[in-house]
Amino acid sequence: MLSRRKIIGSSVMAASVLPSLGWGKGLDWQPRGSTGKLERLPLLDLESRDDFNMSYRVFVNGELRKAALDRAIKILQANKLNINAAVDLKQAVALFENDPVLAMNMHGYVRGQQVMWRQLRDAVYAHGDALMSEMEAADKTGPGALELDRRIILPDYTKHEIHNQPGGYVGDEFAGHIYYYGSNNFWMGHNTQDEMHAKLVTETPIPADGKVKRILDAGCGDGRLTMALQNRFPDAEVWGIDAGGPMVRFSHMRANDVGNKANYAQRLAEQTGFPDDHFDIVTSFLLFHEVSGAANKQIIAETARILRPGGVFAPGDIRNSQGVMTGYRQFFNWWNTRWNYEVWMLDHIGTDYQKVFMANGLTWETNEKTRIGASANVMGVKKA
Ligand SMILES: C[S@@+](CC[C@H](N)C(=O)[O-])C[C@H]1O[C@@H](n2cnc3c(N)ncnc32)[C@H](O)[C@@H]1O
Repeated sequence: MLSRRKIIGSSVMAASVLPSLGWGKGLDWQPRGSTGKLERLPLLDLESRDDFNMSYRVFVNGELRKAALDRAIKILQANKLNINAAVDLKQAVALFENDPVLAMNMHGYVRGQQVMWRQLRDAVYAHGDALMSEMEAADKTGPGALELDRRIILPDYTKHEIHNQPGGYVGDEFAGHIYYYGSNNFWMGHNTQDEMHAKLVTETPIPADGKVKRILDAGCGDGRLTMALQNRFPDAEVWGIDAGGPMVRFSHMRANDVGNKANYAQRLAEQTGFPDDHFDIVTSFLLFHEVSGAANKQIIAETARILRPGGVFAPGDIRNSQGVMTGYRQFFNWWNTRWNYEVWMLDHIGTDYQKVFMANGLTWETNEKTRIGASANVMGVKKA
C-alpha cells in the first residue's frame, strides 16, 4: 500500500539492521517515511528507479552538458562566430539542431524526465483511492487555511503539460504529489529537506522599515517556499496561492503534517482578490517562465497593487535577466520550448521586465544574492 507515511522496505534496514552491523554508527538513522521534511517514496523499488533516474539526470546535466558546450564552441568557431557574442535564434537553431552530441544531451534530458513523470504517475494512480482519502481528510485540518475555488476560470496558458508533466498543474488531481517528487528529482538531490528553498528565503529582501506582517507567495506550487517563508517569519500571515487546486491541496496537507501554519488558496496571481496595499512582501519562484508574456505583465501590475508602499516584490526565476543571448543559450531556450514543453520560455526571455516593473511603480534592482545559474534575480520596491 502506498502511503507517504508508511514505514516499509529499507526503513527497517536503516532503523535496525544497519546500525547493528556497525554501519551508520553515530548517524541519526530514521525510518523510511519520516526522514526530515521529504517523505521518502514509500516503495523501495520506486525509490530505486527514481534514484537511478536522478543519477542519469546528474550525468546528463553534468558531464554530457559539458561535452555539448564544448561541441557548441567548436561549431561556433568553425563558423567564425564569437562564442560570447549574441547570435540570432534562427541561426543558432540551424547551427546546432542536427549535431549528435548536442542532440544526445537535450534528448537525454527530456527522455529521462518523461520516464520520471511516468513512473511517479503510475505509482500514484496505482494507489489513488488511498491517497485521495488522505488528501480529503487533510483538507479539513489546520493550522493553516485551505481555500479551493471550484468555479475558477483558468486561462488557457495554465493548461499546458509544462516540462512534460502529465496533466500539468491543473489537469490532474494528484499534480501536487507528482510535482513534489518530480521536482525533487529536478533538484538532483540538493533539495530533499527543502534546503534550497530555505536558503533562498534567508535571502529574501524585506522592506526598509523592517515591518513584515503579511507575505504572499504567488505560484506556490507544492508550497516549499511558502513554508520556508512562514518558518523565517513565524509571526507573519503567510499565503501561498496557485492556479492549480491540486497544488494548494498538496501544499496544505504537507504544511499541516509539520505544523506549519501557512495558508493556501487556489487563486490566480494576476487576480488575487487581496486588498490594495496589503502585503509587505510578495515572492514568486519559478513562476514567470511558465506564464505567458501577457499574463506576466498582469501579474506584475497586480503585485504592485497589493503591495503596500515600501513593500518588496522578489520574484526568482531562471532567466529574469539573462544577459547576452549567445548561440548556445538561444538553442537551449528554443529546444526547451519546442521539445520540453516549456511553452512560455521564449516569451519569458523576450519580456523586458525592467520596463514592466517601472511602468507599474516598482523600482528595479538586481538581487545578486538570489542568483540562479547565469542569471541574477531581481527585486522591486513599491514607491510611496
Ligand atoms: C514551476 S512551478 C513553481 C512552484 C514553486 N514556486 C516551486 O518553488 O517549486 C510554477 C507554479 O506556478 C503556478 N501558476 C502558473 N500560472 C499561475 C497563475 N497565473 N497564478 C498562480 N499560479 C500559477 C503553477 O500552477 C505551478 O504550480
